[in-house]
Amino acid sequence: MCVPSKVLTNADLEKMVDTTDEWIRTRTGIQERRIAEPGTTTSDLATEAGREALGQAGLKPQDLDLLIVATTTPDMLFPSASCLVQQRLGAANAVCFDLSAACSGSVFAMVTAQQYLATGRYRNALVIGAEVLSGFIDWTDRSTCILFGDGAGACVMAPVERGGILATDMRTDGSAAELLYMAGGGSKHPPSHESVDQRLHFLRMNGAEVFKMAVRRMAESVKRVMADAGLTPEQVNCFIPHQANHRIIESVAKFADVPMEKVFENLQRYGNTSAASNLMALYEAVKAGRINTGDRVVMVAFGAGMTWGSIALEW
Ligand code: UT7
Repeated sequence: MCVPSKVLTNADLEKMVDTTDEWIRTRTGIQERRIAEPGTTTSDLATEAGREALGQAGLKPQDLDLLIVATTTPDMLFPSASCLVQQRLGAANAVCFDLSAACSGSVFAMVTAQQYLATGRYRNALVIGAEVLSGFIDWTDRSTCILFGDGAGACVMAPVERGGILATDMRTDGSAAELLYMAGGGSKHPPSHESVDQRLHFLRMNGAEVFKMAVRRMAESVKRVMADAGLTPEQVNCFIPHQANHRIIESVAKFADVPMEKVFENLQRYGNTSAASNLMALYEAVKAGRINTGDRVVMVAFGAGMTWGSIALEW
């Protein structure tokens, strides 16, 4: 994984908007987040995370035949961030594309890569979730600016003899699209003086409605993926939820009968990094020794779209 070095604490936010460290910690669990310096792009963070994942897998960039970057904040509308990462890594043999599933990006991209690997079409896939959301946050809106951070997580995926991905679940509901969106910059509201004046280039969210839907949908998805994999919560060693809000994670765990001791969280230090979130958490859970060879892991995500989904895997 790769995160910018600059830390933005709750105390820093107290000086920017009408909020308190106590409110942010008790309502979200977040204590600090990383913010990219001006000029640092999503493909910068993605390239570093991808390079580290390749090193750990013992692969050369030329060995890759698939490279997916999940992001909502590509360097530019086109070309895709994945093409920029390809060039930076020297992954000349990979086919590259971006995947847009907001905070479900890591999970959706892993499931997508798995399909290509399962058909035998590709052998070595690099999946990266990366965001520089800080440029799209309204730093005067206390209901959103306290939540998000920048970062990237990556993993290499390849066919395995045993274990690997046991079951997956991917869902979307476009009828709830208005709960979380960024209106400006696309074909509906191309950039203009008017779009900037109307502050359309910032993320907008109905937090309370997203909260309720996130809890319900992630709990359903976790239960479904465990059933499909033939696993009970007792047989799962580690749960890697999307790192949006500690209270959401607690409620999902409660409704899915998952004990909190098995749930990995790092949102305290990074906030919600959207498409990077699950892969950054997976990385830190492995580094912390919370996931070892043969362990059963369940990842679950929820994001704009709305999108949600899960993966059950044997590490
Ligand atoms: O990754 C997927 C996308 N995002 C999420 O999963 C986030 C989902 N939503 C949430 O995490 C929560 O809804 C929030 C953390 C955004 C908000 O927490 P909440 O408990 O749902 O609060 P609320 O929106 O119902 O607001 C409660 C009060 C309001 O004041 P009034 O109207 O009761 O007087 C807000 O104005 O808290 C106020 N408030 C704040 N107060 C201090 C909202 N933001 C802040 C703040 N500091 N930063």
